[in-house]
Amino acid sequence: MKALVLAGGRGTRLRPLTNTSAKQLFPVANKPVLFYGLEAIRDAGIVEVGIVVGDTGAEVRAAVGDGSRFGLRVTYLPQEAPLGLAHCVLIAREFLGDDDFVMYLGDNFLVGGIQELVAAFDPAAYSAQILLTPVDDPRSYGVAELGRSGQIVGLAEKPDDPASDLAIVGVYMFTPAVHEAVRAISPSARGELEITDAVQWLINHGHHVHSHLITGYWKDTGRVRDMLECNRIVLESIETRLAGTVDDRTEIVGRVVLEAGAVVENSVIRGPVVIGPDTKIIGSYLGPFTSIGAGCTLEDAEIEYSIVMNSSAVRGVARIEASLIGKGVEVVPARRAPNTHQLVLGDHSTVRLRG
Ligand code: DAU
Repeated sequence: MKALVLAGGRGTRLRPLTNTSAKQLFPVANKPVLFYGLEAIRDAGIVEVGIVVGDTGAEVRAAVGDGSRFGLRVTYLPQEAPLGLAHCVLIAREFLGDDDFVMYLGDNFLVGGIQELVAAFDPAAYSAQILLTPVDDPRSYGVAELGRSGQIVGLAEKPDDPASDLAIVGVYMFTPAVHEAVRAISPSARGELEITDAVQWLINHGHHVHSHLITGYWKDTGRVRDMLECNRIVLESIETRLAGTVDDRTEIVGRVVLEAGAVVENSVIRGPVVIGPDTKIIGSYLGPFTSIGAGCTLEDAEIEYSIVMNSSAVRGVARIEASLIGKGVEVVPARRAPNTHQLVLGDHSTVRLRG
């Protein structure tokens, strides 16, 4: 069994943060979301992993390397343009050979791993397996319609009028039968070779496709609110570890991870919170479900339920909430009258100002 991890594509819903950075490397509790997937693959006993990369390939390669730190052997598969999930399978043909494989979307976050799924996969009984989970608004996902006995009747990619509330989760299992399917289908209306169409092709051509309903926590991290929710879920289970320095004017409540080289002075921290290495928190309040990256400075600031990425600074600003702050960002008050907001924002930024 091999794994095919998809880490190319465009991150249009997370712009401007994804104009320059890979969305699969966005930090969840200070660890790239992609790493959770790679660890799940490793824990399922898989060693050979192909990672599909696009424009942000250099960044993904720098972060993952040859995979040995995860106990994996990684082969990079460059994709010339984001031509679809099934196109990724097409270009991975040689790497995959005649092995069964797990296809894992690099921006998907699944609590509980894939060990049981991989162990239970039965290539003698079916050609593919998809995971389904009920969602509130299925229109931004692949959607499955099931028959009375639970068999898949039909699949549709991001339908306007979904036949059910069952979204296709971004972890698929395939036998080599899928290779004929991805060669047979044509690009969809959005110009992509859809894996949903390839699975439908398998069904139409008499292959048995097994569906498995999951009830655990799953998120596609393509949107800001999903990123913040994943961050919350991971922070729910951290254990306190204080490797940095905390002065005696600081009050820490709840579970907090403070990495080496981090300094906290005269502040209130209400966990769960993670603070990266070499970050300074001075005279500030950090509220629950907040991750602060490495080399940041928070001074006279208040922030909660947010993610702040590496090398950013927030000074003299209260209170920031439900926010995603990128790398090397500075948030400071305007120094002089008139009492105005002064903004330098990248393309496609979102700012919500009070008052
Ligand atoms: O998250 C689950 C959903 O993922 C499914 O419900 C949908 O059926 C499936 O089509 C997919 O929809 P998305 O629109 O969310 O896919 P996205 O474009 O975000 O791509 C998923 C991952 O694959 C992401 O890490 C980027 C990568 N990718 C995507 C494309 C289109 C590639 O590496 N190459 C590509 O050509």
